[in-house]
Amino acid sequence: MTEYRIPEAEVIEQATDARRFNEVMGKGPVQAEYRRMARDVAARLPDGGKILDVGTGTGFVTIEIANLLRGKAQVIGLDLSQAMLSLAAENAAARGVSEFVSWRVGDAKNMPFEAGEFDFVVSSGSLHHWDEPRRVFDEIARVLKPGGGCLVRDSKRLLKRRERLFAWLIGLSIPADFRKHYWGSIHSSYTPDELRQLLQTSRLQGWRIAEDVMDIFVAKEHCHV
Ligand SMILES: C[S@@+](CC[C@H](N)C(=O)[O-])C[C@H]1O[C@@H](n2cnc3c(N)ncnc32)[C@H](O)[C@@H]1O
Repeated sequence: MTEYRIPEAEVIEQATDARRFNEVMGKGPVQAEYRRMARDVAARLPDGGKILDVGTGTGFVTIEIANLLRGKAQVIGLDLSQAMLSLAAENAAARGVSEFVSWRVGDAKNMPFEAGEFDFVVSSGSLHHWDEPRRVFDEIARVLKPGGGCLVRDSKRLLKRRERLFAWLIGLSIPADFRKHYWGSIHSSYTPDELRQLLQTSRLQGWRIAEDVMDIFVAKEHCHV
């Protein structure tokens, strides 16, 4: 594992890449992680509200949240990639939640939303793709209502031998053609210290960082991580 980040491309643009992402991530243990995140968010908003998923991709977390909160919440998935969002719309239709979600093409560092629009901002597996993460955290701070919450989950760069061994074991369960993306994500992710330095100079206030064996979390306010 390298000491330094090896950044990945910001956007998953090609329809074939988007489709393969959707196939691989649409099953297996990662789906449990999406559901866990959605439960965390829904628990914070028992009366619903307006929720933004930044870098929603094919919409897995957005759809889980919409399914839990049904008509109580307005859930919006933002992504740079039309190819990913087209699949997100198909996934939402298959789950019967189309009426509770909407999809928006746009850049997280210049979000197409008003200040203070959202009760909650969530993001999964997208942070390591952001070209300018500080600007995205500034934007999250801007679009949140005062007192709004936020939960960002991403892979982390694995510097400890025990974590790398664990990642290698998990990697065995991933289809061979997709493993390069799996390791690419890990190599392009941040360490907790790097993320802390980024956040210290962003406009997002009240954040804290947590980590588990393979992932890193930024939570604002009373999120369970
Ligand atoms: C690895 S995918 C994760 C998708 C989904 N959140 C998940 O967990 O399955 C990362 C997504 O972030 C999107 N993305 C990267 N940078 C972005 C930006 N600046 N604005 C909006 N979306 C972005 C990519 O297009 C891609 O769909």
